[in-house]
Formats: sequence, structure tokens, C-alpha cells
Amino acid sequence: MKPKKKIMQVLGGERLDPPPVWLMRQAGRYLPEYRALRQKAGGFLEMAYEPDYAEEVTLQPIRRFGLDGAILFSDILTVPDALGQKLSFAAGEGPQLPPIRNSEDVRQLAEVDAAFHAHLAPVYETVARLSHSLPKDVTLLGFAGAPWTVACYMVEGKASKDYAAIKQFAFADPQGFGLLLERLVEAISAYLIRQIDAGAEVVQIFDSHAGQLAEEDFSRFVIAPTRAIVAQIKQAHPAVPIIGFPRGAGVHLPRYAREVGVDALGLDTATPLSWAHDVLPPEMPVQGNLDPIRLLAGGESLKQAVAPLLAALKTRPHIFNLGHGIHKHTPPEHVEQLLQLVRSEG
Ligand code: CP3
Repeated sequence: MKPKKKIMQVLGGERLDPPPVWLMRQAGRYLPEYRALRQKAGGFLEMAYEPDYAEEVTLQPIRRFGLDGAILFSDILTVPDALGQKLSFAAGEGPQLPPIRNSEDVRQLAEVDAAFHAHLAPVYETVARLSHSLPKDVTLLGFAGAPWTVACYMVEGKASKDYAAIKQFAFADPQGFGLLLERLVEAISAYLIRQIDAGAEVVQIFDSHAGQLAEEDFSRFVIAPTRAIVAQIKQAHPAVPIIGFPRGAGVHLPRYAREVGVDALGLDTATPLSWAHDVLPPEMPVQGNLDPIRLLAGGESLKQAVAPLLAALKTRPHIFNLGHGIHKHTPPEHVEQLLQLVRSEG
């Protein structure tokens, strides 16, 4: 029998000492080999939609550091792009989309049909290639954004500070906004199921903007749609673990853990580990949650943060990760230092 991969063991409920490690945004601008390839490709989306590039970029941090997990190189905003809302990245700026502001705009979105999947076919192809090219002990993670977070970009048209446009739409026209969430549930479920069909062993659902909502709104916009996605994936692929990452969920976290149906939780940097350990279901694996700026700083300050983090999660299945994505100015040597620390102190 093939020995089980470490991340799969932990997601199956085992505790490993030291814990396996992967890092959110482990492929990206902090790596010189990434910057060189992006320049050759002409841009970020050109890389994401070209399996030759996307496969290579996914493999870069695996080769360099020997991480235990490889996350597909893509973006959460390929889904609105595939629904016909054209995505672009202006040089040096974040994502831009022509904003959707009412139910008429929602009706203009494309269906989740053969053309939707044809648009995303390069992503599925990248996953399929990686499932063969990755080292045999490395777990392949697929991913998507959660409906609320993806909708934030679709309605705001870019990264937002106050979430005024999306909340106004959601509060003024609950039915129209409901249609948008429904379309996203359908699209994201289908997208993740195809990633799994192609070879993803785990999927992570990023809800980066989950921390912006009042209690009731958190239930309607985060919990309910994510639960619907998890149910659809479980129906198609009952054995594939799903990691939920509701960043900023704070006190809503235990409810998210109980109600959404994910197998494991990604914890953000601000979540106190002792609290999380007390309030989460006892056997639930967690992932996280080193402050990415500790990794940027490196040295003694990194060392000081790693040991208590490992100690706090000694009695629970744990995948070591950051509490949010790697900062783009992180020296790659700091990632090496981190791996040494985790693997020697674990
Ligand atoms: O290595 C990995 O983690 C896999 C690839 C990945 C990317 N984006 C590549 C990327 C993943 C998992 C994402 C998720 C993502 N994308 C999220 C959720 C996680 C989070 O960070 O909260 C969000 C909100 C997005 C949307 C997005 N994509 C933004 C806001 C930006 C611009 C901000 C930034 O960091 O530049 C992107 C661009 C993006 N996605 C880059 C990368 C490597 C940078 C593009 C570049 O300039 O090369």
C-alpha cells in the first residue's frame, strides 16, 4: 500500500510531530523564478490560464523548499471571469472587473455550462498535469473563493475598504443579491468538483472578506452558501477533505465549524489558538496561523513566534501555515528558516 501523504493524514484526524507545512501564496512575487516567468508570460493571468506556466509556478516553491503541500496556481477571480465578467490586473494594482450592481446585471452573467468549463479548462489541465508531476509525498490542493468574497470583487469591481457597494446591493435588493449568490454556489461547486475530478486531493475555500459581517448577514452570506457548496462536493466526492478559511470570522468561527460541514479550518493570524482549541469540535484539524509579517521579519522574531504556535496545537491535528498569504517582499531564505524551525522543534 502507498504510504499516506502527511497533509492527508492530518486531515484524516491524525496528529503528526512535526506538523506538515504549506504556505498560502507560496507561489508568487517573492520568488525570483516567479518574477522571471511572469515577465516572460506577459502577466499574471497569462500565467494562470497557460498550463505550461501554471504548472511550473506551482512546482517552484516545492522544488526550492520541499513543502508538504502544493496549491494550484490560479486565482479566485477566474470564476467571475468564466461567468463573463471580464477580469484584468493593471500593472502594480489589484484585480479589476466591470462592477455588477443590480439584478439586471446578475442576469447578464453567463450560465454554468460547457462554455464556463471550457474557459476554465486550462485550470483543470494544470491540476491534471500536477497530479503526475508532483513528488509522490506532496499533497495537491485545489481551491476557490467562497461566494461572499468573490461577490465582493464582482460588485465592488476591485478590492474594497468599506464594502459599501456590496452591502448596499445585498441590503436593498436581497432577492437580486440572492440570485448572485446562487449563481456563485453553482459555479464554485462545479469548478471545485472538476478540480477534484482532475486530481486535486483536497480543496480549500477562501473567504477572505468573511470578517465584515453582522451576525445574521454572516449566516446568510457566509455560512449558507458555503454549506451548499460543501454539500454538493460531498455528494460527488465524499472522501475529499475540504478546508474552510473564513478570514476574520472571529466569534463566528465555532458556528462556521459546526454548520458549514468543512473537514478542517484555516485560522487567520488574529485567532487566539488556545481559544480556538477550546471552542472548536475536539477532533477538527486546524491549519495556520503564523503572522506573515513574522516571516517577512525572519531571524529571532520568527523563531520566537514558531515555538508557542506549535505548542498551542500539540493536542490537535495541525497543518502548519500562515494566517494569511506571504508578503511579496519576504526573503526566500526566511521560508527556509521557517521550515527548519518547524521541522526541528515539532
Ligand atoms: O500560491 C498560492 O497561494 C496559489 C495561488 C493563489 C493566488 N491567489 C495567486 C495570485 C491563490 C490561492 C489566490 C487566492 C486569492 N486571490 C484570494 C484569497 C486569499 C487571500 O489572499 O485573501 C484573493 C482575495 C484573491 C484576489 C486577488 N488576486 C487579489 C486581491 C490580488 C492582488 C493582490 C496581490 O496580492 O497582488 C490577486 C493577484 C494574485 N493572485 C497574485 C498571485 C500570485 C499576484 C499577481 C502578480 O502580480 O504576480
